[in-house]
Amino acid sequence: MDDLYVRLRRKLAPFGQQHVLRFWDRLDGAGRSRLAGQVDSFDLERIDELAKTRVLSAAPAAALDISPIEVTRFPRTAEEHAAFERARRAGEDVLRQGRGGCLVVAGGQGTRLGIDVPKGTFPIGPVSGKSLFDLHVERVRALGRNYRTRIPLLIMTSPVNDAATREFFRKNDNFLLPEEDAVFFVQGVMPAVDFDGKLILDAPDHVSASPNGHGGVMPALAESGVLDRMRKRGITDLFHWQVDNVLVKIAEPVFLGFHCQTQSRMSSKVCRKRDAAERVGVTVKRADGRTAVVEYSDLSAEQAARTQADGSLELWAGNLCIYWYTVDFAEKIGRDAQLPFHLARKKIPSIDREGVRVEATEANGIKFETFVFDAFPQADKTFIMELDRAEEFAPVKNLTGEDSVESAQQAMTERSRRWLESAGVAVPRGADGRSRWPIEISPLFALDAEELKAKLPARLVIDGPLLLG
Ligand code: UD1
Repeated sequence: MDDLYVRLRRKLAPFGQQHVLRFWDRLDGAGRSRLAGQVDSFDLERIDELAKTRVLSAAPAAALDISPIEVTRFPRTAEEHAAFERARRAGEDVLRQGRGGCLVVAGGQGTRLGIDVPKGTFPIGPVSGKSLFDLHVERVRALGRNYRTRIPLLIMTSPVNDAATREFFRKNDNFLLPEEDAVFFVQGVMPAVDFDGKLILDAPDHVSASPNGHGGVMPALAESGVLDRMRKRGITDLFHWQVDNVLVKIAEPVFLGFHCQTQSRMSSKVCRKRDAAERVGVTVKRADGRTAVVEYSDLSAEQAARTQADGSLELWAGNLCIYWYTVDFAEKIGRDAQLPFHLARKKIPSIDREGVRVEATEANGIKFETFVFDAFPQADKTFIMELDRAEEFAPVKNLTGEDSVESAQQAMTERSRRWLESAGVAVPRGADGRSRWPIEISPLFALDAEELKAKLPARLVIDGPLLLG
């Protein structure tokens, strides 16, 4: 046997994972170095520990000692309105000084949408057919223009979709974002294991591995050198969101202002859960006073359904993955903290004894992911505010039904309708009260209702699909 084989076997054997070399004799040089590269990149000790403590003998989950978190609600009193206004001005100052950066996590696989292209390339504009990426970039460009500054857009991809994402941007001329403001970086991967804790081969020269969850964002930011580059540019804070939210108000200044005024390390916008069963995580306070997010799958049905005296949900603050965090906090977490792994039972393609690929018909293994919101408890200061779902949150998760392409497009049209009506435009409505025609307002035309009002053409008549932009 060659030296490489001997070295790899020595590395794998202490953890009982030497079976990944079982087709070694059949592999050519390229196959051998592909497999060796993978094995060398894995933290086998950590995988072993996870397998032993979480897969083979999982301790029962401790009951969560959590309570509702304080949330800054929509302003009602004159005093609250004044505080929001001060926050807006503070946020606008930070943007004008060029201290704000934008970061979209887009490393996921879009499995629920049933597509095998990056989710951000999905055409979503109800009139224009523009992609999610295109709309996000337009928002970033509009912000830069309005605040007379350059705002970088950081795009996290994964090895699964990095090349396709970059190619999409290249083909579209970066959607007119200057080259140095479109900053790509790649998150890591984590191998899957079977129910015996063994690594799974999905090809004779390849171990099944997938993106390590969006919790991979801070380590990837730190290790890729992107944080250093941002610091050199004077960026102090990053606005973080998920690629599938079509309504996201990127780097909206009131939220930024509060985040900075409260000197928070990490801040979040939350919304009232539709009902106890809605599949969003909840933002809560832990017994030690720290902020945390509990994923929907980790919350017991009893805890999720608990109500307050007025009948509303006790744990109502739905986590939407809309955050500001400081560059320093991202660096600290990325370098020093090991976020906890969450386990998901999945159908994982593998190979049989002859090396022929087999598609799984039922769950046969476990994937490990970390979640960025598990960084919250490490932040000594956090700021949490409420948002209006209809104005800021419509994710594209499924093809039809709730949180789908259809519901997201409808949400875009309805937000446009409200903005237009508040500016005094008559929008024809159907019997269901919704706009009769699809309406789309390019972020470059207006980022909010006030900007729209100021720019509207005189006597706008709507008698068909409308695109302002
Ligand atoms: C997620 C949140 C949930 C929140 C909801 C709001 C998690 C675990 N849960 O649920 O609390 O209420 O969004 O929409 O995130 N991604 C990566 N790399 C990965 C995995 C995912 O970049 O390794 C990105 C995806 O591209 C996407 C986002 O993270 O932009 C969310 O991933 P998804 O799997 O759709 O999360 P949800 O289960 O919908």
